[in-house]
Amino acid sequence: MLFMKIIKATDYNDMSKKAAMIISAQVVLNPHSVLGLATGSTPLGTYAKLVEWCNKGDLDFSDVITFNLDEYRGLTSEHEQGYRYYMNNNLFSKINIKPENTHVPNGVANNIEEECSNYDKQISELGGISLQLLGIGHDGHIGFNEPAEYFEKSTHCVNLTEETIKANSRFFENADMVPKQAITMGMKSIMQAKKIVLVVNGKDKKEILNKALFGPITPKVPASILQLHPDLTVIACDAL
Ligand code: GLP
Repeated sequence: MLFMKIIKATDYNDMSKKAAMIISAQVVLNPHSVLGLATGSTPLGTYAKLVEWCNKGDLDFSDVITFNLDEYRGLTSEHEQGYRYYMNNNLFSKINIKPENTHVPNGVANNIEEECSNYDKQISELGGISLQLLGIGHDGHIGFNEPAEYFEKSTHCVNLTEETIKANSRFFENADMVPKQAITMGMKSIMQAKKIVLVVNGKDKKEILNKALFGPITPKVPASILQLHPDLTVIACDAL
């Protein structure tokens, strides 16, 4: 049975707290959880809550394993706009997770195809993702799965759309500095996650969220595939 739960958060803090509570419950119930994690501005508050609760001693990440959705092609782990840097800075260095248990695609791997297939292999060897946290881009992308003619299944290298480059240029000096490609987890690992939590913040995401949740399921709106997931929770603030 398909089951979509939609929670209207009262504000950004409420959205972050609710998402963090679901992740905490997952980790408490299964300390060996495999978490799929997202970047972007939306989950920052969620990560801040997890850090707070871990430091209070209420959460233990010592046996948790994580896989991030994506990484820009060409950015090293030290690059401040890279997603490995973002994760280290906003979460991993502030909780008791083992660094070797955290995975972010290597944006500077020499052999991208091998990097992508190893990423999928590692996830499937662990039995898949227990809980996947997602954000959504203005064009409906999840991870960096951009609007396309078909849903791409595996981890792959993708050309970013002009819209994504423009949207993400706020984190760079200018749009020219935004990498044109990224490595992203494909739809298979995302959809095979046992639970998915989608966090959405802001009026500017209202139109795309509506299309994704209630419009036709199409690779032109990548997030629309989530309608087919059996355990999806959407936590939205100002976007419903
Ligand atoms: C990037 C990430 C996505 C994220 C999206 C939205 O493109 N690859 O995983 O969901 O940005 O970001 P924000 O939350 O800042 O709107």
